[in-house]
Amino acid sequence: MSAPTLDRPAAPDEAALQAQFDATIAADHRIEPRDWMPEAYRKGLVRQIAQHAHSEIIGMQPEGDWLLAAPSLRRKAILLAKVQDEAGHGMYLYSAAETLGADRADLTDKLIERKQKYSSIFNYPTLTYADVGVIGWLVDGAAICNQVPLCRSSYGPYARAMIRVCKEESFHQRQGYELLMTMMRGTDGQRAMVQDAVDRWWWPSLMMFGPPDDDSPNSAQSMAWGVKRHSNDELRQRFVDMTVPQAAVLGVTLPDPELALDPDTGRYRFGAIDWTEFKQVLAGNGPCNDERIARRRAARDDNAWVTEAATAYAGKHA
Ligand SMILES: [Fe+2]
Ligand SMILES: [Fe+2]
Repeated sequence: MSAPTLDRPAAPDEAALQAQFDATIAADHRIEPRDWMPEAYRKGLVRQIAQHAHSEIIGMQPEGDWLLAAPSLRRKAILLAKVQDEAGHGMYLYSAAETLGADRADLTDKLIERKQKYSSIFNYPTLTYADVGVIGWLVDGAAICNQVPLCRSSYGPYARAMIRVCKEESFHQRQGYELLMTMMRGTDGQRAMVQDAVDRWWWPSLMMFGPPDDDSPNSAQSMAWGVKRHSNDELRQRFVDMTVPQAAVLGVTLPDPELALDPDTGRYRFGAIDWTEFKQVLAGNGPCNDERIARRRAARDDNAWVTEAATAYAGKHA
């Protein structure tokens, strides 16, 4: 090793860098893109942020299916704004992944080749317009529970992206609830549509928090690194506690006969989740997995000329 000179000090060794990283995490400060980080931290974050970005982009599809069939101009404008927001969330998150050295086109390829995952929830079909309301209420509601703690995630760009994303998710949740409230004040047929959508989406919404804590391989390390702040089961419980009173106000029944308030804890007990279904959907065997990936593939391939043209144009003006 050469002696340090005035203009080029010797690089600190790995142990010193690791100690500095550990101290930053312990002090609850942020890791920024130029900071040294362990390779496993970087890889884990790329995996999590890419999965999150893919979920936002694939998540445009189930609701996007209703853009042309929205029942009024007002509903169409609201839904269009919401679906555009999800595109924005995806772009934000891909940018955050790029600060870690990932390549956006490569991440999209990995999604299409099924080498990276996205949230299981978006593999269920939207059968009626009530599904748009229930997705806003339950799916965006679950996303908020998951994402609010990520605003304090140890990786700076991810945490900052989450602040804006959460504000928009909050709007999504309210628009869904408002839509359902309107339908519940409507006809018997509309109330039945809402109940049917709740019946279909409730359990998949609970699965959004991921496997139970004792079956969640990445959770412990992710929590030690301050990327994740609460366990899957803890967040799931928080969501149930938040949602049960909202269901009562709405006048719908959640499809779980075991759902009951535990007087000792003040929290709601709920029935067993069908983890076999969850694993099947994650493995690619859900009702809409093939359709979702096929459409994403078509969007990439059919629009490749736009990317090429935009890149050529930007190159000329660089
Ligand atoms: Fe989103
Ligand atoms: Fe959303």
